[in-house]
This record gives sequence, C-alpha cells and structure tokens, in this order.
Amino acid sequence: MMSKEKFYITTPIYYPSDKLHIGHAYCSVMADTVARYKRMQGYDVMFLTGTDEHGQKIEEIAKKNGVTPKEYVDKVVAGIKDLWTLMNVSYDRFIRTTDDYHVKAVQKIFRALYEKGDIYKGEYKGMYCTPCESFWTETQLVDGKCPDCGREVKAASEEAYFFRLSKYQDKILNLLEEHPEFLEPASRRNEMINNFIRPGLEDLCVSRTSFKWGVPVDFDDNHVVYVWVDALSNYITALGYGSDDTSLYEKYWPADIHLVGKEIVRFHTIIWPAMLMALDLPLPKKVLGHGWLNFNGDKMSKSKGNVVDPSILCSRYGVDAIRYFLLRDIPFGSDGNFTNEALINRINSDLANDLGNLVSRTEAMVGKYFGGILPEDREAGDFDEDLIATAVAVRENVEKQMETLQFPNALSEIWKLISRTNKYIDETMPWALAKDESKKARLGAVMHNLCESIRIIASLIAPFLPATAQTIQERFVCDKSLFSYDNAASWGLLPAGTKIKKGGIIFPRLDLAKELEELEKLTKEPEPEKKEIPGIAEMISIDDFGKVDLRVAEIKDCFPVKKSKKLLQITLDDGTGTPRTVASGIAPWYKPDDLIGHKVIVVANLKPAKLCGVESCGMILAADCDENDVKVVFVDGMPNGAKIR
Ligand code: ME8
Ligand code: MG
Repeated sequence: MMSKEKFYITTPIYYPSDKLHIGHAYCSVMADTVARYKRMQGYDVMFLTGTDEHGQKIEEIAKKNGVTPKEYVDKVVAGIKDLWTLMNVSYDRFIRTTDDYHVKAVQKIFRALYEKGDIYKGEYKGMYCTPCESFWTETQLVDGKCPDCGREVKAASEEAYFFRLSKYQDKILNLLEEHPEFLEPASRRNEMINNFIRPGLEDLCVSRTSFKWGVPVDFDDNHVVYVWVDALSNYITALGYGSDDTSLYEKYWPADIHLVGKEIVRFHTIIWPAMLMALDLPLPKKVLGHGWLNFNGDKMSKSKGNVVDPSILCSRYGVDAIRYFLLRDIPFGSDGNFTNEALINRINSDLANDLGNLVSRTEAMVGKYFGGILPEDREAGDFDEDLIATAVAVRENVEKQMETLQFPNALSEIWKLISRTNKYIDETMPWALAKDESKKARLGAVMHNLCESIRIIASLIAPFLPATAQTIQERFVCDKSLFSYDNAASWGLLPAGTKIKKGGIIFPRLDLAKELEELEKLTKEPEPEKKEIPGIAEMISIDDFGKVDLRVAEIKDCFPVKKSKKLLQITLDDGTGTPRTVASGIAPWYKPDDLIGHKVIVVANLKPAKLCGVESCGMILAADCDENDVKVVFVDGMPNGAKIR
C-alpha cells in the first residue's frame, strides 16, 4: 500500500446495566478481528467501542443499588474494560457517553438540529417500553407488547422534543434501495424497507422529562436528550466532532463499518443516517447486522439465568479458544448457538488436534533431528509442490472471505493448510527419513517446509487468535517481519540457521465429560447472597419460624431444684389440660412466690431434656436485659394455650 489508507470500525456502545455476556463478546471479538486484520494489511485503523451510560434504566438500577448513577456506571464500566483487556479486544478509543466532551458535543448537535428546524417541541403520546427505552407506535407492537423484548408497554404522554424523521423518508428509502452495500445482510435491508420505511417514518421523540440521568438539553432545563441521539452521536463525538480538535473526525469519518446486532439495525440505518443528513455530514459506508448468540437454543438473558460469562471460559480455556469458537462456529448474519459441548469439541478437534499437534510435532522433530536449527542442506521431493501451492494461496482465500466478514470460512481456509501440512508429515514420514543418513537433505527440506507452513499459518491467524500467533512466533528465532501479511503468500523465507525453540503444548486436549461437569458447576448462578444484619442471628425463613410452637401458659406451681442454684422447677397450665413441667434457669432473679399466677410464653414443642434430674418439657421465654439481669416475658391476661405467631 502506498500511503496508509484509513479504516474506521465501531461496535455498538454497550449498556452498562449488567455484566456483559458471551453474546456481547461475540460482537466485540468480530470487530476486533476486523480491526487487527486491517492493521495487518497496513491500514491506519480506528477501532471504537464504549458504553451507553444514560437513561432511565441505569437511573433505576443505581437507585436499587443505593448508589448514584455515576458511581454505578463507573464500577460496571471498569469491569467491561477489564473484559476487553482479557479478550484482547484492541480498541483504539473507548467512549463513555458520560464523558464531558461527548456531553458537550451532544448538546451542540441537539441545538444545531433545533436551530435548523429538524428538532421541534411537541407532545408525545405513545407506547413506551421501559426496559428497552423505546417508544413504539400501536402498529409496531406485537400482540400489544414490545416488538423487541416482548414485555408490557405502557401508554405515555409528555412534553417532548421531536426529530423530523418523516422529512427524510424518501432519502432513507433511496439510501437503502440504491446503495445495497450500505446495509448487509440483504435480508435486514428488506426488513427495514418493508417493516419500517414503507409504512411511513414518524417523527422521533428525542427528549424526556420523566428522568434526569441524561445529557441536559442546554436551552430547556426540563429535558434530557433521549437515548438514541445521545448514543448514536458517539460515533462522531469520539473522534472530536463538536469539540475544538476535530482532526480525528476529519481523518476517520465516515465510518467504514458499524458492526451492530440485528435488533439495533433499525436505529443505525434509519435514524442515524437521517440525523447525519440533517447535520449535512457524510453517511457511514456500511452497517453490518449480526445475529444473536443463543445458549442451548434459547436467547441469552439474565432473567432466564442462561447468560454465559466469557471471563470464566477465558480463564479456563484461554482467550483464543473462546475467540476461535465465536468466530468459527457462527456464519456472519445468522444466529448462533453456544453450547459447552460444541465449545469443547471445537477446542479438541481444531485447536488441540490440528493446530496444536502440528506445532508440537514440528518443534519436536526439528529438535530431535537438527538440534532445533533449520539446516542448510535441503532436497526437494514429492508432496512439496502441493503443500507450497496450498500455502501460498491461503492469504488470498482468507481475504475473499474477510471482504464479507465470513469469519468461519476465513478460518476454514487457514485450517485447510493446517490439515494439508499434517498430512504432509504423514506422507513424507520424517521418522523414516531420519533412519537413513543419505536422506538427511530431504529431511532438512521437510523440516523447512513444515516451518514455512507454520510461519504462514501463524501470520494469518494473528487477527483471529492474537495470543496463539504470538506464542508460535516467539518460538521462531528470526526476523519478526517474516510473520506478516506481506510475507504470508511467499514461500521459503526462513533462513537456514533459524532456531526453533520447543515450547509447551498450546492447546491441551480436554476430557469432554469432565469439562461438561466442571462447566455446569462453574456457570451455575451463585445462590443469592444471604442478607445478614450485623448483631442479629443468621436469617431463617418464615417456614423455619413456623416450626416453633409458642403458647401462653400459666405458672401454677414453682420451687427450686435441689441440686441447682439456677433452676426453678415450674408447673404450667398450657391449655391442653395436662400439666407441663419445665426447668428454667431463672432462680437468681425470681423467687417462686413472685411467679405463681403469672402467665408466660412457653416453647411448647421443644424436645424434652433432663436438667439436674428434672425432665423439662419446653422453655420459658425471657430477655437478657444485661449480663446480670434476666427478665421473664409476662403475658398476663392472655388465655392459657393461646398460640403466639
Ligand atoms: O443496544 N448475541 O446496547 P446493548 C449477540 N446501547 N449479540 C448480542 C447478544 C447476544 N446474545 N446480546 C446483546 C445497545 N448483543 C445500545 C447500543 S449503539 C449507538 C447503542 C449485542 O448493550 C446487541 O445486538 O443492549 C448489540 O449490538 C450489542 O450487543 C449491545 O447491546
Ligand atoms: Mg439491547
């Protein structure tokens, strides 16, 4: 490439309303792979991600947690950043919609649209889905419920600002019809045109007065900017649009790819371009709508308790195993299904067997036959040409697949070379060559070829499996530029004398049954935390309490127990007609005569116990008033046998 061409890719900005799950990781890993791929090709890449931190939902969650919204999002966002670090998501910028520069720029954008007449004040009446923060028209509802999440919507009405989306109806229709490359896959384009645009675009409510946690409209205090204008603007404010320094904006806008999940395609291909048209700004080149990742066939959701935590999986299997699964198993645009079994099987077959084995076998053989150094003498032979032809073609085949983000196909192109190379070992039988001194040069060539193949494989997997690529590369003591996109379609670059270090196993083989059992344990939602009150005994349930039978009983007789200083023997009328005897440790505080005739509470179903020769059936309730004072709870005036609950 002559001069560096720019490439700008974005993920959606995530709601920090919850822990992110493997579905979110799917989106970020795809975007990261594209970013790394383009960087490898020599593009000047800007990869943006971030968090969408305003709105009623966050305000409510923070309240529930007893913290301010800002305190709440700060904590969750820190966790999200940690996850991306763990997963090697190589974003260049991370925008938070609570960032000062973003808030100011959104206010400017809102004002500019208002001054232009594309935002006006009106009255909003409609159906509102609180969890989705979406207004819907009656016609958009499905069975009277939110078309996105299926939950109840409620009629809402309030003073609000509106964006004149209707004005852009024809232009948006034209955009989608005349520029099919703007939105892919094509099925989503038809959905937008038929379900949303053709029925007529209605003006969009873009401010709220019912909550405060948002960007304030700077010319009307009662209002905060309603979520989509705030959220979508991030793609340009992150580059400094609306600030003093717009150099990044000028360099990178328009975006080359907005990568988004299918449920937010509507916002990115209708509202966002209309906003940009209103602002007289260029439109993004492409919006790509990916499918959802389900778990065991069901949409992942916290309420269903089936969210898969990517950090658990990464720490158990390594980040690249998870990246590989996400990229290899789900055709772009379709929904995918995550199961623990599919993950383990993928790791075993593709990573442990195919890739891991190839690398270990080759390292071991170069070590054993040539002391870990690629030899000078080489003699070409059978099977070389086919291997070489396969190897040098992979880069172009991968490129073809990456043009349409078909990650599974791109990986399978690389895996064809891995298989071909493993087969080459079986065909050339280095162990047999090693037995014959006259075949030394042939053996040397075979080792060279294996290492060349691995060099190309490691170069091309780098965007998908960056850590693994790095691990393999480090075992080759050579000029690191040999591991590059530029050199990935050339053969025979590793010089004689290159040292190949032997390292550990890259992907250990897993025992499927054992892993499934372990994962089952690991991914179980932790038991809800028991709420304890300091100084108070452990919580019991109402059922636990219900087991205790407390009764009013009258003290009919009372005298000291002979062998004890503490005990009084008491005869009670508990309303059953049968006198009840209890021994109670209250002798230091009460004389028998003071007790007779009074009514007390007895634990009537306590198992009998012998105390100093007295069979005690039950226990009288008393309070520890301080260390040296105990007072019996008297309930005089209540009927004998009355149940206390
Ligand atoms: O929608 N499988 O944020 P979000 C695949 N803040 N992708 C999934 C998924 C799953 N199971 N669950 C969620 C928002 N996603 C807005 C975006 S952009 C200006 C504002 C994807 O946190 C989802 O499809 O709810 C979306 O693309 C992304 O995660 C963020 O979702
Ligand atoms: Mg969402």
